[in-house]
Amino acid sequence: MLIDRLAFTGLRNLGMLDFTPSSGINLIVGRNGSGKTSLLEGLHILGMGRSFRTRQLKHAIAHDAEEMTLFARLAGEPPLPIGVRRARALAELEMRMGGERVSRLAQLIEALPLQLVNPDAFRLLEGPPAGRREFLDWGVFHVKHGFYDAWRRAKRALKHRNALLRHGRMDANSLAAWEQELALWGERVDNLRREWMASFVPVFEETLARLIELPELRLRYSRGWDKQRSLQEVLEQGRSADQQMGFTQNGPQRADLRIRLGRRPAVEVLSRGQQKLVVSALKLAQGRLLELTTGRSCLYLVDDLPAELDAEHRRVFCRLLESMRCQAFITSVEHDALVGPWQSHTPLAMFHVKQASSGAGQLVPQAQIDFTTE
Ligand SMILES: Nc1ncnc2c1ncn2[C@@H]1O[C@H](COP(=O)(O)OP(=O)(O)O)[C@@H](O)[C@H]1O
Ligand SMILES: [Mg+2]
Repeated sequence: MLIDRLAFTGLRNLGMLDFTPSSGINLIVGRNGSGKTSLLEGLHILGMGRSFRTRQLKHAIAHDAEEMTLFARLAGEPPLPIGVRRARALAELEMRMGGERVSRLAQLIEALPLQLVNPDAFRLLEGPPAGRREFLDWGVFHVKHGFYDAWRRAKRALKHRNALLRHGRMDANSLAAWEQELALWGERVDNLRREWMASFVPVFEETLARLIELPELRLRYSRGWDKQRSLQEVLEQGRSADQQMGFTQNGPQRADLRIRLGRRPAVEVLSRGQQKLVVSALKLAQGRLLELTTGRSCLYLVDDLPAELDAEHRRVFCRLLESMRCQAFITSVEHDALVGPWQSHTPLAMFHVKQASSGAGQLVPQAQIDFTTE
């Protein structure tokens, strides 16, 4: 996966933007408020169907525009154009791939695997389980065939079970049928997650060891229900308690990743800086495992690199990214902090986001820096 052309219109302050990124490291510099994060946001919307800054995509539409369109061409034989459009007047995100409308977000996500490292990233550790579950499922989805289908079926069964639980008079037959369905697909989801974890953990530990010495840190998967019992059993036995709560309290929808240092949750022990390194290792490990198992590379979006990591860790982080040979977009206000950490032979494409006189941000390819080894 490699983007060889990007064209955005109507995205925040970015104005019309159409450029050819490099297949490797793209460095984006610009003053505060120039539109660097918006550029990454556009890529994130393209690959994930949602922004990392706002829940409501309409807020990302430029104030003076009626819609935004985000387009990327993925290199290949033939190349694959992908695009999304969000009109202010319509609530839906229109998605296209290869000239055709697509209805499932999963198709977009599959086409453009990406990971984001930004100043909010440490929330992966301290935030609610949903974020960690999403991180986990991103990996399983890209690597394990059949995961999406199993998860969709489990979710559907869960929705029906929850609706029945809330219903005054419960139809016992329907409930049993949906429980069976949820148990079947929920166990499948759990198996795939578990298999994925078994390959992820060693990659993560190896990546972490290169960034920071924390030999006691353990990453563990918790499946969301009792280890000793089948999901079917848990659902049957939990019926009346679930009915009182009005929702299903145990199941794959409650899965989590537990990150501990010795016996304590890592967030309680680690400094903010250490947390950022752990999160960086998690995110880099996702891309490394994707590459190892599928041969596909992951797109990296790194917002405000110097805010994330100090000079020494920036260097290690960038060396890891280099070794992965993936495409990356990395922003900063500081030119030197962006250029410094790379090996001298790594080609760097530098772009400068400038405020145009009209107020719209413009992306001006500033220079193609191409160091050669001595
Ligand atoms: N919907 C919008 N329409 C137009 N401009 C916007 C919109 N939302 C935010 N902005 C402006 O876009 C600018 C770019 O912000 P941002 O991408 O965060 O810049 P940077 O990351 O370079 O500091 C900010 O000046 C902000 O005020
Ligand atoms: Mg920013």
